[in-house]
Amino acid sequence: MKNKFKNIFITGGAGFIGSHISEAFFKSFKKSKIIILDKLTYAGNKAYISSIIRSKRVKFIKSDILDTNKYSKFLRNCDLAINIAAESHVDNSFISPLNFTKTNTLGAHAFLLECIKNKVKKILHVSSDEVYGEKILGNCHENQLVNPTNPYSASKAAAEILINSYKYTYKKEIIIVRANNIYGIRQYPEKLISTSIVNLIKNKPIPIHGNGKNIRYYLSVIDFAKALILLVKKKNRGTFNIGSNYSEKNINIAKKICIIFKKDPNKYITFTKDRLYNDKRYSVSSKKIRKLGWKPKESLKRDLPMIVKWYKKQYKIFKKYGEKI
Ligand SMILES: NC(=O)c1ccc[n+]([C@@H]2O[C@H](COP(=O)([O-])OP(=O)(O)OC[C@H]3O[C@@H](n4cnc5c(N)ncnc54)[C@H](O)[C@@H]3O)[C@@H](O)[C@H]2O)c1
Repeated sequence: MKNKFKNIFITGGAGFIGSHISEAFFKSFKKSKIIILDKLTYAGNKAYISSIIRSKRVKFIKSDILDTNKYSKFLRNCDLAINIAAESHVDNSFISPLNFTKTNTLGAHAFLLECIKNKVKKILHVSSDEVYGEKILGNCHENQLVNPTNPYSASKAAAEILINSYKYTYKKEIIIVRANNIYGIRQYPEKLISTSIVNLIKNKPIPIHGNGKNIRYYLSVIDFAKALILLVKKKNRGTFNIGSNYSEKNINIAKKICIIFKKDPNKYITFTKDRLYNDKRYSVSSKKIRKLGWKPKESLKRDLPMIVKWYKKQYKIFKKYGEKI
């Protein structure tokens, strides 16, 4: 592929999704330098990017996205900046909502301003389908109004509104992506799939919020990375939903994982107090990006055994388990 970008800046590049995106961009843009910024919160870990971090083409900066003085100069010659850094766990957003506003809204805004100051040509901001709020029937389209229902999704929606305005003010090439629940290896054990797997490894039950009937769509992090690469290669701008066709009730995900572990779901699933508000269903239409030639190829059903295998071998990588890497 013709080398489009000299320098690519990625925030949150040592987190779950960010580590896969950093690897995928490293592989796809073989002559580009990849500058990865990450605060390394509980969810980030340099070990997730061990396959690329020692390359001469990679620079790692440990910094909060809000500490712009620490990284501004590295944006100077970047043609592409991707903002993935975030506080990402909805449950935590009920406990410390201001942390979410700080990183997800103020941090995203500060990063955008630095990109503009440094004349970064293309900016891609990673958002979430949760900004639309609950969708009991049908699909959400990109031009629909956002209606977030928790501090996490509100902080993401607020960032989007700020970022979107710069399209007009500064005529910037800005892309915003709203993705489904993303699955894959390296997801911190706090989300449904990763918690279920690690709990069963430790012979503990899987905690399920409420009655477990909430529905989520699941997209592979590999397909997500391919969507981002496709979007940045051409002169795309605007908002794109990125979704799969595969949805499942939370309880069924837990049951599938019990089956892989050969454990009785009746014994290994417990129901816990529901979130203050728990969206019953999200659903997005991905027609816009599919028209560009993208469609998901991976499948959760097929990938789950491989993911379980990875966690069995690697779960001590997570900071929660206190292991030093
Ligand atoms: N996980 C999903 O299912 C999903 C779905 C749709 C969208 N998203 C979005 O994708 C992005 C990544 O999600 P994830 O699941 O990989 O999250 P994650 O929590 O696994 O990783 C977040 C990363 O951001 C870093 N970070 C946090 N605060 C920071 C700060 N102040 N400054 C610099 N770095 C900071 C962390 O250290 C970590 O490496 C988020 O923007 C999230 O909103 C996630």
